[in-house]
Amino acid sequence: NHMMTEFVGQEEGFTREHIEALAGKIQAAHGSMVEKSNAGGMAWRQLPFNQATVVEEILQKAEEIRSWAEAFVVLGIGGSALGPLAVQTALNHLHYNELPGEKRGGPRFYVLDNVDPERVAALFDIIDPAQTVFNVISKSGSTAETMAQFMIVYDLLRQRIGADYAKHIIATTDAVKGNLIKLAQEEGFSAFIIPAGVGGRYSELSPVGLLPAAVCGIDIKELLAGAAYMERLCQQADVFRNPAYMLGVLQYLAMRRGKNISVMMPYAEGLKYFADWYAQLWAESLGKRTNNQGEEIFAGQTPVKALGTTDQHSQVQLYVEGPFDKVVTFLGVENYRQEVTIPRVCQDLPGIAFLGGHTLGELIKAEQFATEYALMKAQRLNFTITLPEINPFTVGQLIQLLEIQTAFVGELLDINAFDQPGVEEGKNATYALLGRPGYEAKKQELAARPEK
Ligand code: PA5
Repeated sequence: NHMMTEFVGQEEGFTREHIEALAGKIQAAHGSMVEKSNAGGMAWRQLPFNQATVVEEILQKAEEIRSWAEAFVVLGIGGSALGPLAVQTALNHLHYNELPGEKRGGPRFYVLDNVDPERVAALFDIIDPAQTVFNVISKSGSTAETMAQFMIVYDLLRQRIGADYAKHIIATTDAVKGNLIKLAQEEGFSAFIIPAGVGGRYSELSPVGLLPAAVCGIDIKELLAGAAYMERLCQQADVFRNPAYMLGVLQYLAMRRGKNISVMMPYAEGLKYFADWYAQLWAESLGKRTNNQGEEIFAGQTPVKALGTTDQHSQVQLYVEGPFDKVVTFLGVENYRQEVTIPRVCQDLPGIAFLGGHTLGELIKAEQFATEYALMKAQRLNFTITLPEINPFTVGQLIQLLEIQTAFVGELLDINAFDQPGVEEGKNATYALLGRPGYEAKKQELAARPEK
């Protein structure tokens, strides 16, 4: 169950000397990671260890929901939606929702992250609210999209179900801040708490991700065990023994060499939404105007998601021959959970007959190797992270690895990887436009905006 990381692309890649030259910076960044962790500023690093009681509560709740609900809908956005979607897609059947109930074992699963009215209306065409549990997830308890979705559901349930509506809503939110916890307490909704110090995009291993995963039958204890394993590995100061630090340093070196685009390319359909989850983690954490000294540095790297082999036939041409502005992270899988053999047919057509007898696992790995090779030959930076298999343990490892890597790069860049002022600006403008009390000044500011 150990994940392997390797670095390919030596012509334009980095050597031990490049890394050793950063020794002072790495040591300082490690010191800062330790200091922040000790001061409670990285509470997400403790999630694999300090949730024994809440895990039992989640498992109990999940069992109850599985006994009667036909659908489980997450109402949330950003860090309150991308993790649940990524983990469910990675660890359950790729057509989970289409499986017959007895094979699924749990309710169908939906994440209603957008407020496109067509999307919301469409969901209500295929679910029966009387047989559905809605998990409203919002750390702030005030995000317009999530709270609007909640209000629609709340009203609908009260009209359709009457007195028993509260059993259809579960709130996952902060213990004290925001409206959602107040509503949960007043209305008697079940509630799970996102611990203080666990920001949205670092919250997948809190009840944010654990409840939806458990409802869909995923082994959440194993998920946390994988994360705990990785967390211990990544507490080491030595960059050559700490996989998150090593990945972080290589990404940092790539940034310094002008690689402004970071592509994540899983060679597994199950990890497709992991690239979405990672895009948020990377973009929101590192995309910052100023450093911790208040100097303008315009940090960050634009995340791009791609899927192997699908995007070999759309994006890879650009990656191999386009501008030297990208670094590619491949997510590979050693053993696919299913195997399909290509039959030995069409033997009189040598141009395709050679495929017969090989497995699709062999084909997809060959394609991955071939793409890595094409990049290397063209001197393009790329990493490969290989999961021995996609299972709860390795997915837990991967989440913790990428979160620590991101926080560590934040320290190397000397920025705050845990705030998101750019996102807040947009949220506040939305509140002002729709008339939230207290946002009058923001409304005036918007009205004074120059004409397009
Ligand atoms: O990472 C973040 O903090 C954000 O992307 C949030 O997750 C997102 O804006 C949703 O916020 P909330 O959970 O408060 O509704």
